[in-house]
Amino acid sequence: MSGIERPVIRPRRLRATPALRRLVAETSVEARQLVLPVFVREGITEPVPIGSMPGVVQHSRDSLRRAVAEAAELGLGGVMLFGVPASKDAVGSGACDPQGILNVAIADCVAEVGDALPVMADLCLDEFTDHGHCGVLRTTAAGVQVVDNDATLEVYAEMALAQAAAGVDIVGPSGMMDGQVGVIRSALDAAGHDEVAILAYSAKYASAFYGPFREAVDSSLQGDRRTYQQDPANALEGVREALLDVEQGADMVMVKPGLPYLDVLRQVRDAVDVPVAAYNISGEYSMVEAAAERGWIDREAAILESLTAFRRAGADVILTYWAAEAARLLRR
Ligand code: PBG
Repeated sequence: MSGIERPVIRPRRLRATPALRRLVAETSVEARQLVLPVFVREGITEPVPIGSMPGVVQHSRDSLRRAVAEAAELGLGGVMLFGVPASKDAVGSGACDPQGILNVAIADCVAEVGDALPVMADLCLDEFTDHGHCGVLRTTAAGVQVVDNDATLEVYAEMALAQAAAGVDIVGPSGMMDGQVGVIRSALDAAGHDEVAILAYSAKYASAFYGPFREAVDSSLQGDRRTYQQDPANALEGVREALLDVEQGADMVMVKPGLPYLDVLRQVRDAVDVPVAAYNISGEYSMVEAAAERGWIDREAAILESLTAFRRAGADVILTYWAAEAARLLRR
C-alpha cells in the first residue's frame, strides 16, 4: 500500500450488514402511508382488467367492497375512488347524481369499512363528461371552446355535497380550476359538512404519464389539459398552487405526477405545514410492470425503491396502485 493514503473516513462501515443498514435508514415506508386508488364501473358484475395497467381492474360494486375491506385489513392509509359511469354528458351530470356510480360506491365503501379506513373520492368531472375535460365548456367570442373556470366551480360545489351526503371522509379535487378548494370548503361548511376533509391535488401537471389512466376510466378526452393543468417546466408555480390551496382551507395537498416531480414534492413539503401527498401515477406504474414483464427489471425491488424515493423527497402520504401489494411486501 506504499504511496496510497488509506482512508480514515469509511462510510461503507454502516452498510456492511442488513442490520446496520436498518439501524441508519433515514426513511421508511409503512402501510399506513399508502393510499390505494380504485376504479368502480357502473353496470358490471365482474371486475374488468385494464389492459394498460396489468394487475389493476375496473371494479364492480361488489368487488370494490371486497378490495376496500382488504385495504382496511392490510392497514393501508385509505382508498381513493374513481367512478366510470355508463353514460356521460356535456356537464357531467353523473357526478352530482346521488345515484351516480361514484356516489353509490362511496356509500358502499363507508358501509363496508366505517371509520376503520378513510374513504376518499376524486372530485373532478373528466370521468363524467362526454368531451372528457375536467370542467364544463364555454365557447368564446372567437368561437373557441374553453373550460369555464367559474361555471365549473358551481358544479364542483354540488359534487362535493353529493359525495359528502354519501359519507365520504375526504374529497380530492383534481381539476385544477382556480379557487376550487375555497368554493368546496364553503359549500361543505354551509351544508353542515365541516367534518369532511379536503386533499387538494394542488400541483398537478399536464403529463404524458397519465396515458394508462385514460383507459382505466374510459376517457373521452380529445386534445389536452394544458390550459388548466400545469406546465412541466414550472416548479415555483407548483409551490404557489399549494400555498393557495392551504390558504383556501386544504387539509392536505398533493403533487402529481410523482417520480418525475420529486423536486416539486420536496419544495412543496418545505413550504407548507399540512401533510403532503404524492401520486405515483398510472404511467409510473405501467412502465415498471411492462419492464418487469419482459424480465428487464426486478419488479418488487423497483416498487419498494420507488416508494422509498417518495418518502425521501418528503411525501407523508403516497397514492399508489401498488399499495396493497407493497403492504404485503413490507410485512415480510
Ligand atoms: C383527473 C385525474 C387524472 C388522474 C387522476 N385524476 C387524469 C388526468 O388528469 O388526465 C390520473 C391518475 C393516474 O394517471 O394514475 N380526474
